[in-house]
Amino acid sequence: MRHLIEITDLTVEEINRLITLAENIITNGRRFSEVCKGKKIATLFFEPSTRTRLSFEAAMIELGGYVIGFSSSDCSSAAKGEMVTDTVRTVGCYADIIAMRHPKEGAPLAASKYSPVPIINAGDGGHNHPTQTLADLLTIYREKSRLDSFTIGFCGDLMFGRTVHSLINALSRYENINFIFISPEELKIPAYIKDDTLKKRGLGFKEVERLEDVLPDLDVLYMTRVQRERFFNEADYIRLKDSYILEPSKLYRAKKDLCIMHPLPRVNEISHSVDNDPRACYFKQVQNGKYIRMALIMKLLELEA
Ligand code: NCD
Repeated sequence: MRHLIEITDLTVEEINRLITLAENIITNGRRFSEVCKGKKIATLFFEPSTRTRLSFEAAMIELGGYVIGFSSSDCSSAAKGEMVTDTVRTVGCYADIIAMRHPKEGAPLAASKYSPVPIINAGDGGHNHPTQTLADLLTIYREKSRLDSFTIGFCGDLMFGRTVHSLINALSRYENINFIFISPEELKIPAYIKDDTLKKRGLGFKEVERLEDVLPDLDVLYMTRVQRERFFNEADYIRLKDSYILEPSKLYRAKKDLCIMHPLPRVNEISHSVDNDPRACYFKQVQNGKYIRMALIMKLLELEA
C-alpha cells in the first residue's frame, strides 16, 4: 500500500506519469467517470481549506466515487482528545483512501503508520504539501512544456510556506533549475531545506530581499501569502504581511512568457489588477489541482480507466 506524505515518496518517473494521466483526464474526462465507482474518499481536515479539500472531493466525484469527512477539528472526536492514529484506524473502516490536513508537522506520517488505507498529506503545518506541488508541476508543464531548464523565484513567506518547501523538493530532482528565493530576512527558507535538499544535491540558489532586482530574470514567479497562523506574535505578522505586493506596474520588466503562480489563498500579495494579465496562472493551478488529484487517487487505489 502506498501513501503520499512528501513529494519524494513519488519518483520523478511516477510524477511524470501522473502528469500524463492528468492530461489524458483533461482531454478525455468522460472515459474516467466510473473509474472509482463504489469507492469512498474521506477528507479529514483539522485545519481550514477551500481548494484542497473541495478539489479532492470534486476529483473523487468526477471519478464516480463518494466523499465523507469533516472540515474542522471541532466537529470530529479530536475535540474530545482523540489521537489522529485512532482517527485513521476508524475512518479506514469506512473509506478506501484518506486525504488529511493537520496543523502539526508529521501528523499524516504518524497516521500512515496505523492506517489500513492510503493516506494523502493535504498539508501538515509549515512542513509539506505534496498535492499542491503536483498541481504546480502540472501547471508549469502545461505552460512551459517542460519541467527542466528554467529560473523560478519563490517570493514571500518561505519559512512557513509548506507549498514552497514541497515544490523545491520536487524541482530539485529535475535538471537545470535555477532557484531564487525572495523574502525578508525573518522569512527565509529554513536551513534544513538548504542543507538536506539543495546543498546535498549540489544545487546552487540565490537569496535576495527585493523582488524588483530579480523579476526580469524569472521564467516562473511563485508568490505566497505570509502565513499568519504560524506566527508566534501578531506584531511580527503585521510588520511583515505586506512585504511584497505584485502590481501591473512592476511587471513591465518581466519576461513576456513569465508564469505567475500562487497556491492561493492570496491576501494582499498579488493585486487583483494582475488577474487579467495573460501571465497570471494561479486560477489555472486551481483547475489543474483537481485533475492531478484525480490521477493521484487512481494511482494510489491502483485503478485504470
Ligand atoms: C496553501 C496551504 O494550505 O498551504 N493553500 C493551498 O492548499 N492551496 C497555501 C496557503 O495557505 O497559503
